[in-house]
Amino acid sequence: MSFTPGLAGVIAAESSISSIDGQNGILRYRGIPIEELAEHSSFEEVAYLLLFGALPTAGQLSAFDTRLKENRSIPNGIVELLKSLPQEAHPMVALQTAVSALAAYFPHFDVENDQENEAAVVRMIACFPTIVASFDRVRKGLELLAPRSDLDHAANFLYMLNGEVPDEKQRRIIDVALVLHAEHGFNASTFTGRVVGSTTANPYGSLSAAVGSLSGPLHGGANERVLHMLAEIDGGVSGVEPWFTQAQAEKRKIMGLGHRVYKVKDPRATVLQGMARDLFASHGSTPLYDMAARLEEIAKERLGEKGIAPNVDFYSGLVYQKLGMEIDLFTPFFGISRIAGWGSHWIEQLKNNRIYRPTQLYVGETNATYTPMAER
Ligand code: ACO
Repeated sequence: MSFTPGLAGVIAAESSISSIDGQNGILRYRGIPIEELAEHSSFEEVAYLLLFGALPTAGQLSAFDTRLKENRSIPNGIVELLKSLPQEAHPMVALQTAVSALAAYFPHFDVENDQENEAAVVRMIACFPTIVASFDRVRKGLELLAPRSDLDHAANFLYMLNGEVPDEKQRRIIDVALVLHAEHGFNASTFTGRVVGSTTANPYGSLSAAVGSLSGPLHGGANERVLHMLAEIDGGVSGVEPWFTQAQAEKRKIMGLGHRVYKVKDPRATVLQGMARDLFASHGSTPLYDMAARLEEIAKERLGEKGIAPNVDFYSGLVYQKLGMEIDLFTPFFGISRIAGWGSHWIEQLKNNRIYRPTQLYVGETNATYTPMAER
């Protein structure tokens, strides 16, 4: 039996949802390259593709869209729960808590019922934005806004958050960001959701665990750390190199760089960088973008050989900040998108389920005896 720390390269299941070629920087959802989906598709269509395995017809997409809109509202009890949390709580904590509490309002006893499973996933895709926007408004003492069925998923989220309908460029950027983050194979949070799902736990418990996993700084939480990191660099663009040298001397991991699977630039980072450039050209630039671009250059020189390059989180935060999103909402926004992938994996897991139960390499004492308290 072999031992592989972090399970790197270990195949844990068969899946037909997405594929990644880490050497060449290629990501496909159900066989379709992410760049094509970013250019031509919408989050609703991608969620359908991930969940049902093929692109929808116009009629199927319209019916799916209606189902999503019908499921956007959250129970009053969940609103009260969000109000009861300390305002300083991280929104990922609020999201995880609310998602797990959905199980109390929508009891789900039979995970062998395909229709019930699908309904639970559709509900979560539909109401994640409502949970996140509601918590943000609760903590700011603002009135909650009901979802608007005349707006698509992306525009409705920004509306519920800011109280304003976004312009087309803002809406499109959010929609593309949702497409880019929706799925990524057996990453830590998806694996978490599948592991909990494999016990046949209820869908909300299974996927709230995935939310907890995504919150970690080594995973989804990296996007907000990228902005904190850029803010910590003194002297603008010319301060990046000395900062980088010191970070390397201290053996610090640079947030937004590196990936377990990609050994070249993450294709999602390339799309997001293009969107950032475009947004800053039309809505005014920020020194942080130039600093990030400089940091990428230095990283290429110094870490490129190791295959360390920008990942999806490197440029996403800059874009979200420009759109007025609070820094601590970046990771919840990631979750709003990734629930489409998590839900698809949860359903796939249950279709051919075997409980996950790996083994360990025991390195502890083997022959200890019980010492009475008085003799210790
Ligand atoms: N900055 C500097 N050096 C790095 C970085 C980084 N961000 N990432 C990896 N390295 C170096 C490591 O120090 C190590 O060097 P060594 O061989 O000399 O010891 C080598 O590259 C391999 O690194 P590992 O940590 O073994 O790579 P692993 O696959 O375990 O980790 C991870 C991948 C967690 C993403 C890591 O690159 C990291 O911590 N990055 C920063 C956090 C981040 O951006 N996370 C978001 C990932 S994308 C996502 O979840 C959506």
